[in-house]
Amino acid sequence: MSASDYPVSHSVVRWPGEKKTQNSVLQFDPCALAEKGFQVIRRYGTDIFQLERDLDRVSCGQLYYSNRVGVLCHQYSVLPESANFSEQMLCGGFHTDFMFQPHPPAYIALLCLQPDPKHPFYGRNQVVHVQPFLERMQQAFGVSEQDLRDHRLVYDLAERGRFEQPILDDLDGKLIFRFHERLLGKGQMQGGAETDMSMAAMLHAVMMDVTADICLDRGDLLILSNHHALHRRGECSIEFDGVAGKWRAREMATIRFNL
Ligand SMILES: [Fe+2]
Repeated sequence: MSASDYPVSHSVVRWPGEKKTQNSVLQFDPCALAEKGFQVIRRYGTDIFQLERDLDRVSCGQLYYSNRVGVLCHQYSVLPESANFSEQMLCGGFHTDFMFQPHPPAYIALLCLQPDPKHPFYGRNQVVHVQPFLERMQQAFGVSEQDLRDHRLVYDLAERGRFEQPILDDLDGKLIFRFHERLLGKGQMQGGAETDMSMAAMLHAVMMDVTADICLDRGDLLILSNHHALHRRGECSIEFDGVAGKWRAREMATIRFNL
């Protein structure tokens, strides 16, 4: 039995409006990616070499390589203790992958190799699409798209020092997100709207309001827009397998790419 034939339990909670289709052949859904910022391909399988070949084909060789990660396909799992954001049990912050790069990758493929031990309640993924985010920022706080383009959020990075960057940016004439909630400096200035909330608090409140909550079972593949959506990992758990003498935890494989 190959890895991609491995049976899956599919005790999965589908997101509202999800198309009940299976797609073991990787095909993009441009409408879903444009309108929601993500696409879920159920039961794709867990063969990471197949995933790399498929994405290489559909992206015409535009897989994203980072020296920092050191591989095209980044595999990771939740660990009892880790300084790496992607390996922590703690809920992640909404972010753009490689937000400080001049050209962050346009898309991210997230393949679930092993769901969380407390799946489907833990180990979820959450996605914020730019359109409902902008609408709700205006409705709830009177903060416009232009306000967000102008407001320079402060980042405090250990290796690069203080850095300022608005959450919205132009890339080749198109509006994109550039954001990392967990890297924001403490004590952000007031947002300028008629509220005492900080800009960071307003952003988080709206993101939690409009986020799509996605539940991946083993072999499910999530394709995300890294330019037009923010993403984060929900809280994860781990479980000690006394027979095998090791921890069981969520395992994922990620490949970034352009189209
Ligand atoms: Fe990420």
